[in-house]
Amino acid sequence: MKIVRVAIAGFGGVGRATATLLLARRERYRQVHDADIRLVAVCGSRAGLADPEGLEAGRLEALEPGLSGPAFIEASGADILIEAGPSDFRTGGPGLAYLRSALSAGRDAIVISKGALVHSGPDLRALARSSGAMLKLSGAAAAALPTIDLIEHSLKGCEVLEIEGILNATTNYLLDAMMTEALGFDEALARAQAGGFAEADPRNDTEGWDTAGKLVLIANFGLDAGLTMDDLAVEGIGSVAARDIETWRTQRLVPKLVGSLVRSDGATRAAVGVRTYPMTDPLAHVSGKNKAIRITTDAMGETIAIGSGTEPLATAAAALKDLEYILTARAARATHGSGEER
Ligand SMILES: NC(=O)c1ccc[n+]([C@@H]2O[C@H](COP(=O)([O-])OP(=O)(O)OC[C@H]3O[C@@H](n4cnc5c(N)ncnc54)[C@H](OP(=O)(O)O)[C@@H]3O)[C@@H](O)[C@H]2O)c1
Repeated sequence: MKIVRVAIAGFGGVGRATATLLLARRERYRQVHDADIRLVAVCGSRAGLADPEGLEAGRLEALEPGLSGPAFIEASGADILIEAGPSDFRTGGPGLAYLRSALSAGRDAIVISKGALVHSGPDLRALARSSGAMLKLSGAAAAALPTIDLIEHSLKGCEVLEIEGILNATTNYLLDAMMTEALGFDEALARAQAGGFAEADPRNDTEGWDTAGKLVLIANFGLDAGLTMDDLAVEGIGSVAARDIETWRTQRLVPKLVGSLVRSDGATRAAVGVRTYPMTDPLAHVSGKNKAIRITTDAMGETIAIGSGTEPLATAAAALKDLEYILTARAARATHGSGEER
């Protein structure tokens, strides 16, 4: 049985949930992938833990000060990095240094934070290609909702013509509450914050930037589109007024914050804004904290996926789906000398 060493950089809610699920699934990895998965390092911004034999669940509470940073992860001997630090679209965030360090050394990376990928996605992808590392990002690209996987696997060979995505759970919940419970924006937001599924500063979600970031990732990693955030016209839900809600209700239309992308003549146009859907459209029925994507292709017509899951477990599971792709690709490489595309 082969030993595969995993490290997690960024050890907040999602990083911890990923560690817990990874350790709980070790027997599955043994049986399905013939792999002895060892969690050899975890770290937050200032503290961490490492053990070349593998950390157990009971040891993850007390991190040791000073153990953090790309060099610490590198020294752990990890074969695969899971990056779950804070997202910063403008600088790439701390994830950028961890990912550069791992990918340039040929280590596979599973990315959950969006910042580095939005900021430097094409560069990181090129780095992975040149070193032979795999770079997977299901957790960053709408997590439990399959997006890039749909394009890469289920729609393989088809030309994607158009994408519409309800990619942000918080804004979907807010618009849904405003429509169905006649709540004002502030009231709906206060309720979402009390429930723990809207940030204290919700602007990244409500102004459309989270949706825009996910759309850029889907476009660049799913379609090789080469978009930057500056290429997108981005509008959030802040301008939705009570009279808009009343009008849409009267017209039996349902508003959604949508990231949309259209491809024609080799060009890709993308935007984020509120769209309304009649009740006959499946996207009108994506309620609460659910997310959805509709992909229109030349040969397979429209494909729609709707999904969610309890956080942070669902995001952890999306990242570990990537881990299983990597284990499968590594096994194929070992057998045939080549792996999956990345
Ligand atoms: N929450 C979700 O459901 C969800 C879903 C999809 C994607 N994401 C993304 O997943 C990421 C993590 O989310 P979260 O909810 O777990 O956030 P969080 O609870 O705020 O955790 C962030 C973690 O990153 C660590 N960190 C900050 N700077 C670091 C550095 N330089 N080196 C190593 N670690 C560093 C923090 O360390 P300290 O503890 O020392 O501050 C903390 O452990 C975010 O990018 C988020 O956008 C989250």
